[in-house]
Amino acid sequence: MKDITITDSIKYVGVDDKTIDLFESQYVVPNGVSYNSYVILDEKIAVMDTVDKRGTEGWLANLEAVLDGKTPDYLVVSHLEPDHAGNVQLLAEKYPTMQIVGNPKTFPMMKQFFDFDLEGRTVTVKEGETLSLGKHTLQFFMAPMVHWPEVMVAYEQSEKILFSADGFGKFGALDVEEEWITEARRYYINIVGKYGVQVQALLKKAATLDIQMICPLHGPVLKEDLGYYIGKYLTWSSYEPEDEGIVIAYASIHGNTAFAARELAKMLEEKGAKCVKVYDLSRDDMADAIEDAYRYDTLVLAAASYDAGVFPCMEDYLNHLVSKKFQKRRVALIENGTWAPSAGKVMKAKIDVMKDIELVEPTVLIKSTLNAESRKALEELADKLVQK
Ligand code: FEO
Repeated sequence: MKDITITDSIKYVGVDDKTIDLFESQYVVPNGVSYNSYVILDEKIAVMDTVDKRGTEGWLANLEAVLDGKTPDYLVVSHLEPDHAGNVQLLAEKYPTMQIVGNPKTFPMMKQFFDFDLEGRTVTVKEGETLSLGKHTLQFFMAPMVHWPEVMVAYEQSEKILFSADGFGKFGALDVEEEWITEARRYYINIVGKYGVQVQALLKKAATLDIQMICPLHGPVLKEDLGYYIGKYLTWSSYEPEDEGIVIAYASIHGNTAFAARELAKMLEEKGAKCVKVYDLSRDDMADAIEDAYRYDTLVLAAASYDAGVFPCMEDYLNHLVSKKFQKRRVALIENGTWAPSAGKVMKAKIDVMKDIELVEPTVLIKSTLNAESRKALEELADKLVQK
């Protein structure tokens, strides 16, 4: 087991998963993912969440090594999503005297996932309530929709550790060296991005606590410079852009819209744009393209018309952005059509439902291929995009 030191009495017992093809059946995780679980050893022993069923064997071995023959008194279930609660029933049956700690929303949901008898096994906690383990005391704070309704976080008062559930997590196994920010942002925007208001509410509660360490359910334990991580969460959950830059996302059938998108990128760079990123929505990782739309302040959507609508990967991209509450950005449109251009209308309808979008004109119309007229419009758009 990889040695991840928390403190003398709080131990990491989670596992890495480096064979999963798609996390949540939709996100590529080239460096895998970790399912974190912790044990607090005190007069009473608490296990902080289980792991996905994919990691049962390794997790049980880690857990048994740390327990060293002892029986846990509590299993704290901060989140019932199966990547964490996959082994609740197994642990409950292995340790019949163990109590399960949850909140009023936890147990009805637990019965939907499992069929063991919860009678006499539950400890229900509410906002701000505490559970003493001896020297350690857990204080619970509800975090509804971060990112399921039953989510709660636990603050361990004596060592000032926040067990933050999915919050502050990232993609990537723990034995992989990579910077936190990229995979944490892709994780946050795509998984929790819709729930900015609820994340802000949780951050407000966290601001009242003296937090020295954050133990999330995915990714590394955060021990230093916590203001940096909390600052990123404040930005992401407020939907404000994190950096200045222009993302060009294109949906091209035969390459002509792709060519126009790349020409625009060249023009922008020549005109001094600070950062330009281009995404091929047919081939690039959709979650990356969504992450960067959130990261930067300007988004250009370039798409071919298709079946009297828009080429499907652009529609998919826009549906994701709408569902993740994409807002507060400058957006420009490029549509391509050979006989009856329709992409622009569909894209415009999607951005019309987003909040605080500034549409940068002109919307560029390409008829099949970039020509002198559409190139002129593209230059005009590039000029507007580099002006603030
Ligand atoms: Fe990592 Fe919402 O589960």
